[in-house]
Amino acid sequence: MTLAFVTGNPGKADEARSILGDVERVELDYTEVQSDSLEEIARRGVEECYEELEKPCFVDDSGLFVNCFSGFPGPYSSYVYSTLGNEGLLQLMEDEEERDAEFRCVVAYHTGDRVETYVGVAEGRITREPRGEGGFGYDPVFRHSSGETFAEMTSEQKNEVSHRRKAFEQLAEAVG
Ligand code: IMP
Repeated sequence: MTLAFVTGNPGKADEARSILGDVERVELDYTEVQSDSLEEIARRGVEECYEELEKPCFVDDSGLFVNCFSGFPGPYSSYVYSTLGNEGLLQLMEDEEERDAEFRCVVAYHTGDRVETYVGVAEGRITREPRGEGGFGYDPVFRHSSGETFAEMTSEQKNEVSHRRKAFEQLAEAVG
């Protein structure tokens, strides 16, 4: 069965294909509701997509959760990245010793009669300064538990351990 992945990002669709096989990328502007919960945002998004497409489909939503800020920026990661950027985040954390953080990705899948959600997590720490040239967003300041920042890894290495991969893998298992 071909699954419809509603995303504006062709890179994410390729990542999904490498795990799920047959994936059709659909571009559809759905509402990202304001919520403290990635699950809620993804769930409401996929409900809207299903109403429009009238076929099984999935969406993803992700964010960076920093422990010493009780999970901030979390669902607001995109906004915080475009306003403060990595330099701003590092400045806020200048005197902070507790630097644990995680990326989380929620995939919401509309089966046709219900919505299932899957959560993938990548654990790491926020660096003291940006490192590496690859990736996007917070990649240069997120040192994965395996030792390198996401921006120091090749995209293949990152995709092996990423929060998105873990969420896609659970979806792949569920759809068999
Ligand atoms: P989205 O929901 O996947 O669009 O992600 C929301 C925001 O979280 C992005 O704009 C990035 O700032 C951040 N983010 C999500 N995943 C990653 C990642 O793998 N690396 C770096 N930043 C990420």
